[in-house]
Amino acid sequence: MALSESIKAAPGTASGALDHIPGDLGLPIFGNTFEFLKDPFAFHHRRREECGPVYKFGVFGGRTVMLHGADALEYVLMDRERNFGSRLGWRLLQQLFPNGLMLRDFDDHRAHRRIMQAAFKPKPMRDYMLRLNEGIAQCMQTWQPAPRFEFYPAIKDLTLELGASVFLGLEMGAEAKKLNQAFVDEVAASVAVIRTPWLGTAMRRGVNARIFLLDYFRDLIPARRQGGGDDMFSEFCRAESEDGAFFTDDEIVDHLNFLLMAAHDTTTSALTTMIWALAQYPEWQDAMRDEVMGLGTEQLGYDELEKLVLTERVFKEALRFRPPVPFLPRFAYRSFEFGGYEIPGETPVSVSPGLVAISPELWSRPELFDPDRFSDNRAEDRRHRFAWTPFGGGAHKCIGMHFALMQVRAFTHQFLQHYRIALPEGYQPRWQAIPIPKPRDGLPIVLSRL
Ligand code: HEM
Repeated sequence: MALSESIKAAPGTASGALDHIPGDLGLPIFGNTFEFLKDPFAFHHRRREECGPVYKFGVFGGRTVMLHGADALEYVLMDRERNFGSRLGWRLLQQLFPNGLMLRDFDDHRAHRRIMQAAFKPKPMRDYMLRLNEGIAQCMQTWQPAPRFEFYPAIKDLTLELGASVFLGLEMGAEAKKLNQAFVDEVAASVAVIRTPWLGTAMRRGVNARIFLLDYFRDLIPARRQGGGDDMFSEFCRAESEDGAFFTDDEIVDHLNFLLMAAHDTTTSALTTMIWALAQYPEWQDAMRDEVMGLGTEQLGYDELEKLVLTERVFKEALRFRPPVPFLPRFAYRSFEFGGYEIPGETPVSVSPGLVAISPELWSRPELFDPDRFSDNRAEDRRHRFAWTPFGGGAHKCIGMHFALMQVRAFTHQFLQHYRIALPEGYQPRWQAIPIPKPRDGLPIVLSRL
């Protein structure tokens, strides 16, 4: 039988009909939202067992077709036929970050991304590295040894401080708490079950937070446009496309709002997973400390980044083990075929770097934290081009990936020179999986000075 004959077609031609796709859309209005929120990974494992790798489900008032596997990730993210939009895919973020880079599509997205890329070239990255090192060094003076040091809130404060310095060119002062709360409110609103910003709802708090942050950034624009600052905000003000286009004030504040959120919670989450792992596996902590000490420098130089081979391996494993962005949504503008099904146009779809990262078909003993799987002789990440994609892939691949890797290396390089860590006796981790993974208990660690 020809492949096209084996494809299960949408009955009739009704645009959007999903009757032929396995799965169920759950309750009216709420769909499967509550079951999904309770444990998104368990939800998808169950559905996959019941339905196979392609199925429909209902969340946050809409229906979605899930496509499992690394081939699905590659097909959707590389999008060679220009079928899949990110803007309507990330519809949950639309009220909060309507013009962020990730919520733009195709030519418009490419034009904005090109301008923004100027801020991620080697020269500005060197300047950011200096700011990162300085901020981390100050922080290392203030973290006091304790038998129960809550790492998550501490690193969240630090990444906000660093973000304020690197992205905005600011020393964080009295407004730090307000800014932090605003980002927390925006992120929480992204998965709020009630999507209308009624009084007292999480969505209302998120929308108000957006207004507060945009005004805050707007007030800084004149100074950033005039000064020759080496922060990312100033870079955005200067950034120019090949045909001489600049960002407008509105575009700058919207890009900053999205960028800070995209950078802040993801890096915080990844660093928290990594520190949990180093506390849980002292042999990796010691090995990484030896590597760091071997460099013989108090602060990591930009040209030394590649020397921290073990740090990179452990960080890659932390991102595999608990990816900060486990699911990537897209909107199929046109019908397409995948896994033996014809999926009609105007359908939201989802692919999952998080599920692929724990697939036993690609990773040996995926339930174990095992950084050596990234060593040259094992190279499990090379078993499929999309086996390890915590930063996504294709046109929307994380623009801040190198910045994140730089920040993590700069942090661990100083942290391991000052502190030794362990987990409290009998510690059992409890994590909230979405929208961005975080420990429910703040990750208490035993922090002692070296
Ligand atoms: C460990 C840290 C990080 C992780 C795991 C992460 C993950 C991701 C992922 C998976 C995407 C793709 C989303 C999609 O395809 O729908 C993405 C996009 C993006 N990230 Fe990151 N990110 C991290 C850090 C950062 C940092 C530090 C920045 C900024 C400096 C940043 C800025 C962005 C932006 C602007 C986009 C949108 C890119 C586009 O649409 O072209 N991220 N990130």
